[in-house]
Amino acid sequence: MKSEKNHLWGGRFKEPTDEFVKIFGASISFDKVLALYDIEGSIAHATMLSEVNVLSSAELKLILKGLDQIKNEITNNQFNWSIDLEDVHMNIESRLTEVCGDPGKKLHTGRSRNDQVATDIRLYLRDQVRLIILEVERLLNALLDLAEHEKETIMPGFTHLQAAQPISFGHHLLAYFEMFKRDRERLQESFKRINTMPLGSAALAGTSYPIDRERTAELLGFERISLNSIDAVSDRDFAIEFTANASLIMMHLSRFSEELILWSSAQFEFISLPDSFCTGSSIMPQKKNPDIPELVRGKTGRVTGNLMSLLTLMKGQPLAYNKDNQEDKEPLFDSVDTIYNCLRIFADMVPTIEANKDNMYRSALKGYTTATDLADYLVKKGLAFRDAHNVVGKAVSYGLKENKDLSEFNIEELKSFNSLIEKDVFDVISLEGSINARNHLGGTSPKQVSMAIKAGRKSIK
Ligand code: ARG
Repeated sequence: MKSEKNHLWGGRFKEPTDEFVKIFGASISFDKVLALYDIEGSIAHATMLSEVNVLSSAELKLILKGLDQIKNEITNNQFNWSIDLEDVHMNIESRLTEVCGDPGKKLHTGRSRNDQVATDIRLYLRDQVRLIILEVERLLNALLDLAEHEKETIMPGFTHLQAAQPISFGHHLLAYFEMFKRDRERLQESFKRINTMPLGSAALAGTSYPIDRERTAELLGFERISLNSIDAVSDRDFAIEFTANASLIMMHLSRFSEELILWSSAQFEFISLPDSFCTGSSIMPQKKNPDIPELVRGKTGRVTGNLMSLLTLMKGQPLAYNKDNQEDKEPLFDSVDTIYNCLRIFADMVPTIEANKDNMYRSALKGYTTATDLADYLVKKGLAFRDAHNVVGKAVSYGLKENKDLSEFNIEELKSFNSLIEKDVFDVISLEGSINARNHLGGTSPKQVSMAIKAGRKSIK
């Protein structure tokens, strides 16, 4: 097809755009995601223009009717997207003039694609963040329910991936609850910075028409309007901030994934995931692979990468708008889709996690996880902590030689390490004794876990 001069700026141009330049510069393949937001913005802009008498009410009527028709064409997949029209904004504007004639040409009065695209992205992201927060909340509730179910379940807690101290599995799950709760808070707090309207900034300096920006913002449900036209059309910090928040969510999901993968291995056998969330191997008949957590762990890299893309995209740009900013969309859209899908699948999967309580318990008995409890016991009987540490160190060394856990020593054996040790020691060095003793705010005793769950439920209401 032979190129013609672009009719939106053809006036100044003598030659048509080079064919590959057109392909290279077009964003329509990905920015059509913004189509309905673009129409929403145009409806508000046109309504405001007619209220300040820049458009007549007859013109407004035709524009609104045309936009409504276009909206239907798009939702019914009947819209003919054209790469010749570069992006979503020009595709829609051009179609508007086709369907309603000259009034369509007036829609862009007092507006530029620069403030238009900045507005569209914010409308889009505002909607998406609302949906994402709902998925975070579903995950938070799933974690609370599972923690409730598993508050008495004892497992080894780790540092350096070495058995450290016994903990309640419920308590371990609540650690993730706290992480995702902060993630939710971050999304909520940043929402007001997304929910700010750039429209009216026009190309960069504002417009000479008597526009009423407060009115447009009201029509679009924006909490506030941007206060500097140059800033409003150029910065994408709100998208970067979202992607940073998304990266943190992915990082948390990835850590959780890593644990689920380890725990469901034959070497740990702490949990099992249902068949519906796993896959088999085409060659090894015994395999059941935790694909979902693996994929989520893997997808974390994309979102972190998107964050780097956006930061790098922005850092060298002089004010105000530059075409570079067209590159903000794919990393942003990809982050939104990835985070939404990962949260959704986790919120679905968490309730299906089944704890193998016996294995967890047996594993907690390995690795002298109550050694600290024995030391604390001796301190309470009057020994200095360093001396107590030394006594227990010797006991562990003996246990390693005899292949016995502390709780398997008889009272004579224990007494041989220090005469302060008496029969009541068994209440302390048992797994139950150990976790019950950590009975303070933020501790692992089932009583505290119960209270933390209640407080947690309240905090996300
Ligand atoms: N497709 C462009 C973008 O995504 C729209 C804004 C274009 N503005 C311009 N002056 N070329 O950023």
